[in-house]
Amino acid sequence: MPAEETLEGRTGAAVVVREVTLDTVLPLRHQVLRAGQPIDVARSKQDGLPGTVHYAAYEDDTVVGVVTQFPDDTDLAPGVHAERFRGMAVDPAWQGRGVGRVLMRAAVELARSRGAEVLWANGRDTALDFYTRIGFRVIGDGFVDGVMHLGHHVVLARLDELHP
Ligand SMILES: CC(C)(COP(=O)(O)OP(=O)(O)OC[C@H]1O[C@@H](n2cnc3c(N)ncnc32)[C@H](O)[C@@H]1OP(=O)(O)O)[C@@H](O)C(=O)NCCC(=O)NCCS
Repeated sequence: MPAEETLEGRTGAAVVVREVTLDTVLPLRHQVLRAGQPIDVARSKQDGLPGTVHYAAYEDDTVVGVVTQFPDDTDLAPGVHAERFRGMAVDPAWQGRGVGRVLMRAAVELARSRGAEVLWANGRDTALDFYTRIGFRVIGDGFVDGVMHLGHHVVLARLDELHP
């Protein structure tokens, strides 16, 4: 980091992923994932943990996507270290242009650098096709979250299965 990526299909657009503070990721996380809720509802209990990393994807000085990642082993992948991400959100004007892939490349790189073998998340059902397209598997029964009341499934992959 920073890793500069040129997005396909938009001549001249370059997206740079940087490690940032919570203050930088919170507004877009709130706007995209917790719309209509107080800003504090957009906070996660893992936000301040020592191993938590917040990434923002920038076009020039504008934050166009965010994600937050932390070590979190799971019984779904016994015996290996896992990393989990939350708060994956791309500005609506930028969705479908490759920003999600760029953020997931940073996530895989971070997980690998910290010795993890598995990456996972609770994925919204409306985003499952995004996750499966880049190599995640959808695991188990779905569930509805207690905040936005939306359907979710766990998405999980070994790092070598991912191709964001
Ligand atoms: C889901 C999200 C993070 C994906 O980021 P993105 O920048 O839009 O995704 P990309 O442009 O990198 O898309 C990568 C691929 O996934 C597909 N894709 C992206 N979002 C998708 C979705 N919601 N459903 C189906 N396919 C999707 C794209 O068409 C693209 O396909 P291709 O590269 O094979 O042509 C983003 O759309 C978003 O913030 N959505 C709203 C909030 C949300 O659902 N966040 C995830 C919560 S778990």
